[in-house]
Amino acid sequence: MKNLQTIVKIALALGLIGYTYQAFQCPTLSCDSPIGGDYCFLHSGDSPVTQIRTFKCPSDQWCYLEDGQYAWVRSFNQNMSRLDLSYKNNSQVFYRYTQKHCEDITTFQQQLQNGRKCQVSAQCLSNTCDETTGKCIGKTEGVSCSSHEECNVGLACNPDTGFPFATTCKKMFTSGICANDNECDYTHFCWPSLPNSKQRECLQLFSQEMGKMFGVLYDDLKSLLENSLEAGKYCKSGIAAISTNKSIATCVEIDKITTNINRNDVNSTTPISSPYYCSLEDEHFKACKYWYKSGTGVNQYSLIATEYCDCSLDEGLNNKSIGICPYPGQDQLDTYVDSLQLVLQYTKCQTVDWMNMAAQKDCGVGAVQGGELYSAWQKAVQSQFNITYWQYIQTPTTRQCMEEVMSTSLTNLEKEIGIITQVGLVLLASILTFILL
Ligand SMILES: *[C@@H]1O[C@H](CO)[C@@H](O)[C@H](O)[C@H]1NC(C)=O
Ligand SMILES: *[C@@H]1O[C@H](CO)[C@@H](O)[C@H](O)[C@H]1NC(C)=O
Ligand SMILES: *[C@@H]1O[C@H](CO)[C@@H](O)[C@H](O)[C@H]1NC(C)=O
Ligand SMILES: *[C@@H]1O[C@H](CO)[C@@H](O)[C@H](O)[C@H]1NC(C)=O
Ligand SMILES: *[C@@H]1O[C@H](CO)[C@@H](O)[C@H](O)[C@H]1NC(C)=O
Ligand SMILES: *[C@@H]1O[C@H](CO)[C@@H](O)[C@H](O)[C@H]1NC(C)=O
Repeated sequence: MKNLQTIVKIALALGLIGYTYQAFQCPTLSCDSPIGGDYCFLHSGDSPVTQIRTFKCPSDQWCYLEDGQYAWVRSFNQNMSRLDLSYKNNSQVFYRYTQKHCEDITTFQQQLQNGRKCQVSAQCLSNTCDETTGKCIGKTEGVSCSSHEECNVGLACNPDTGFPFATTCKKMFTSGICANDNECDYTHFCWPSLPNSKQRECLQLFSQEMGKMFGVLYDDLKSLLENSLEAGKYCKSGIAAISTNKSIATCVEIDKITTNINRNDVNSTTPISSPYYCSLEDEHFKACKYWYKSGTGVNQYSLIATEYCDCSLDEGLNNKSIGICPYPGQDQLDTYVDSLQLVLQYTKCQTVDWMNMAAQKDCGVGAVQGGELYSAWQKAVQSQFNITYWQYIQTPTTRQCMEEVMSTSLTNLEKEIGIITQVGLVLLASILTFILL
C-alpha cells in the first residue's frame, strides 16, 4: 500500500500521470461593493487576470466602457505557457485601460454626426446645428466632399462612375461596386456577391436563402466564427459557412452546438442547450463546436467553426472549471437579425452611424419614444448586447455588472435619453423665466 502511494507520488512528480492537467484559471467579475475614488472599473492588471471589479455610477454619470479600450479577459490568453511572451499583443492589458472613473454623460454629446440631436453648433462634427430641426446638418446633394461624415442624412461621399471619379455627396448606393459599407444604403452592405471573387458590391443585408453561395473577405485578426457572422450579413439566417480555402461563403443556420462539457466524451456530437457550458480543463480551442446540417441524413452535420471555451466570470462556475461558449445559437441570432432589420429600415441617421445604437436612439427608431418602433430599438440593443457579451451575462450577478458599465447596454443608452430630456427641461425653464421676467 505504502509502495503504491510512493509510486503514484513519483509518477506525479515526473508528469507520468495525465491528471496533473492545470485547468484554465478564470477571474471573477463583481459589482456589489464600491471600488472607492469614483472608480467604476478596476481590472487586476496581472496575467493571468485574477479579478475584474465594477461599480454602478450615479444616475447623471456613466462608466461607458467601449470595446477595444479597456482591459478584459479571454480564456486563451490566460494560459501563459502557450503564449509568446515577447509579443505585446498577447497581453490583455497592453494599451488598455485597467481602471476608469465615472464620467458626466453630457460630455459625450459632442462630435455628433449629421442627423443627431443638438442644442448648439459646437456639438456637431459639422459645426452646424440647424435651429429649426434641432439636428446637426452638413453638405447637400451634389456638393464636393472628401469624407462621408460631411454629407447630410441619406447621402454618402460617393465617387462618380467614371474617371476622374470625383466625390460628391450622393444618394447612398443600393447596387454596384463599392469600397466600404458606408457607401451603401442602410439596408445594404459592401461585400463580394460571387464565389471566389473579391469584387465588392452593395448587397442587401439579410436577404439570401439557405444554400446561397457568394464571396469572402477574410479578416485574419478575427476568428473563423466572427468571419462567418460577418459574411453571414448577406444571409437571412445571419451566418454563413466559409470554405477551407476561404473563398466561398454559403448561407447556413446554426443547427446544433456541441461542447466538451461531458468529460467522458469530450468530442461528443450530442447537441447541448443554452447557455452552452463547456469545460476549461483541457486544450479547448475545439471546446465549442458550431454545426450546420449539410445533408438530409440524421447525422449529416458539418462544422461552421470551433471556438475556445471562454471564462464566464462567475465564481461558482470557475470553481467547477466550467466556462461558457462565446456565441449563442440560431435563436438569439434570429432575434438579432429581425430587430436590426427594423432599425435599419427606419433610420434617419448619417450613414457612418448605421450600426451605432446610441445614434439610432436619437435619430433612428429609438427617437420615437413609447411606440412600437421604440421597443424595436430596445430589442435590437438588448440582442446585440446578448450576442456580444454572451459568455459574461449568463448569471444574474455578472449580467448586472455588465449592464451597469458597458457603453452599449440598454441601461446606459436609456440613461442618455433621460439627460437629453433634462437639458430640454432646463432650456424650457430658462425660456419660461425669460418670459415671466
Ligand atoms: C497590436 O495592438 C495594437 C493596439 O491595439 C494594434 O494597433 C496593432 O494593430 C496590433 N498589432 C497586431 C499585429 O495585431
Ligand atoms: C476553393 O475551393 C472550391 C472547392 O471547395 C473550389 O471550387 C474553388 O475554385 C477554390 N477557390 C480558390 C480561389 O482556390
Ligand atoms: C477528440 O478529438 C481530437 C481530434 O479532434 C483527438 O485528438 C482526441 O484524441 C479526441 N479525444 C477523445 C477522448 O476521443
Ligand atoms: C496550456 O498550453 C500548453 C502549451 O500549449 C498546453 O500543453 C496545456 O495543455 C495548456 N493548458 C490547458 C489548461 O489547456
Ligand atoms: C470558490 O472557491 C473558493 C476557494 O475554494 C471559495 O472561497 C468560494 O466560496 C467558492 N465560491 C463559490 C461561489 O462556490
Ligand atoms: C437577452 O438575454 C436575456 C437573458 O438571457 C433574455 O431574457 C432576453 O430575452 C434576451 N433579449 C433579447 C432581445 O434577445
